Amino acid sequence: MLKQNRDYRTLMPNPNEFKWSDEYLLGYGPMDGTHREFVTLVNALLECPDAVMAANLEAFARHAESHFKDEDEWMERTEFPPRDCHVEEHGAVLKSVREVLEVVRQGDCAEGRRLAAALADWFPGHAFHLDSALAQWLVKKSHGGKPVVIRRNVVQREGSDS
Ligand SMILES: [Fe+2]
Ligand SMILES: [Fe+2]
Repeated sequence: MLKQNRDYRTLMPNPNEFKWSDEYLLGYGPMDGTHREFVTLVNALLECPDAVMAANLEAFARHAESHFKDEDEWMERTEFPPRDCHVEEHGAVLKSVREVLEVVRQGDCAEGRRLAAALADWFPGHAFHLDSALAQWLVKKSHGGKPVVIRRNVVQREGSDS
């Protein structure tokens, strides 16, 4: 199952709601766009009635496949050095999503909500530890510099170097 990342719990005061924060911006446009979609779809899973849980989880599974495939391809194409554990983490999440989708299709919507809560818990750590390194690498590859990120109304994290 998904790893727990507790370092960024303060970003999620309400476990039943997962909203976009500019804190998640990493400075590589295509990735930031994908991450906004991720947050929207996971929040829909947290909030939706049982009647649409399976359809919403199918939509999220399609998103996750293309989200992780894009990042895996960016890492492969640019020969991003520490890519193995990042690719593995994507694979582990996709495996969980597919397993839970089967259970939800059989009527266990609570399992879909548990997955959504785990995804909301997992995402900040993954984004800050793994995706941010990739975003910096991709911006450097394309522009020769570190990404410039303009965040609105965000209190800087302790130890943040951005
Ligand atoms: Fe990502
Ligand atoms: Fe990633």
